[in-house]
Amino acid sequence: MIYLDHSATTSLDKRVFKKMQPYFSEKFGNASSIHSRGMEASQAVEEAREQIADFLNTSSEEIIFTSGATESDNLAIFGVAEQLQKDGHKLTDLHFITTSVEHPAVEEPFLKLKDQGAQVTFLPVQSNGVVDIKEVKNAIKDNTVLISMVYVNSEVGSKQPIEEVGKLVSAEKNKRQNENNNLPLIFHSDAVQAANFFTCDVEKLQVDLLSLSGHKIYGPKGVGALYVRKGTKLIGQQIGGHQENNLRSGTYNVPAIVGMGEALTLVKKNQEENNKYLRKLQKKLITGIQKKIEDSFLNTDIENSTPAHVHFAFPGAEGEAVLMELDIEGICVSTGSACASTSLKSSPTLLAMGVPKEITHGAIRMTLGLDNTEDDVNKVLEILPKVIAKYRAMSPKDISYGDVTF
Ligand SMILES: Cc1ncc(COP(=O)(O)O)c(C=O)c1O
Repeated sequence: MIYLDHSATTSLDKRVFKKMQPYFSEKFGNASSIHSRGMEASQAVEEAREQIADFLNTSSEEIIFTSGATESDNLAIFGVAEQLQKDGHKLTDLHFITTSVEHPAVEEPFLKLKDQGAQVTFLPVQSNGVVDIKEVKNAIKDNTVLISMVYVNSEVGSKQPIEEVGKLVSAEKNKRQNENNNLPLIFHSDAVQAANFFTCDVEKLQVDLLSLSGHKIYGPKGVGALYVRKGTKLIGQQIGGHQENNLRSGTYNVPAIVGMGEALTLVKKNQEENNKYLRKLQKKLITGIQKKIEDSFLNTDIENSTPAHVHFAFPGAEGEAVLMELDIEGICVSTGSACASTSLKSSPTLLAMGVPKEITHGAIRMTLGLDNTEDDVNKVLEILPKVIAKYRAMSPKDISYGDVTF
């Protein structure tokens, strides 16, 4: 099998699994227990916290463990909104900024806040899926309290200018201080799809909140983290056991936390080499497809993307049918983000990039990973053109994209 869906999830690195194993069995303690079994587990949790802090270039007190990035994103957005209301602000007076290419774990909390009366700006993107920094600058108002911007879009792999936004946010914070505007401005980034490839140094990025997930970085599923900069106020979304400074009640998932720490240590150590390896495969796959499949539209801007993403639209070839046929041939791809792929709705990311609606249905996302080889790419380049040709032969010829009609 050739697995080309690493944005949906990665396999668990064997070294990570080995480190996790004892915490499923002999070291099974509850990290909140104060006896030695518990302390053994708690020590492992704290070691993992240090590993994650090291990856983010911060201190371990600023790391909150969660069940995954969906929870981290929800905690960041609802946590800030609730805190501000607790501090006496009316939600209807508050302004939030996000983008039109977020994962649903960010998009939907903002839609909910909007329904409740909050002012929410969804920034547009350029045709390469990247937000223009001028749009961010123009959108910030005196009552903007939270900017949440995905670091890398999961579908096309576009990388947002997080560092530049961080600078804008810092300048705005200074301005507010001089003007005695006490309203906080908090900067959150969902870095789930970026962690493998780009720096997540929170000082460089100047973020206040940052979400990570275990299962996109060759770590386990069901674990995530939220970086919370010291002084950033937010309210926990689960109440009960008071773990994680009341920000995330619930028994620690010790094996998964241990795995996430180890996975990020490996990412940090091997990032440069891994990026080089993947970029080579990515370029080979992209140029091969462009050479072999006429009228293929690349939606991944290689200059502004991860080295793993290869996203094409093949007008006239229905994405779901292509996916199924490739699966029969032993090649796993996706038509969008895994969470949205069961719905027939057009991808909001592609629509935001200006891809015509009918073309979005011919979109295929391939995401490379460390287990892929040049042979895998050669095999895809042999099979994919035949599959596209087969489905194009069956499709009606009235689709147009720009000047081209199919
Ligand atoms: C950008 C982004 N954010 C959030 C998530 C959700 O992460 P999790 O599966 O850990 O809840 C995903 C998963 O696809 C993602 O790609």
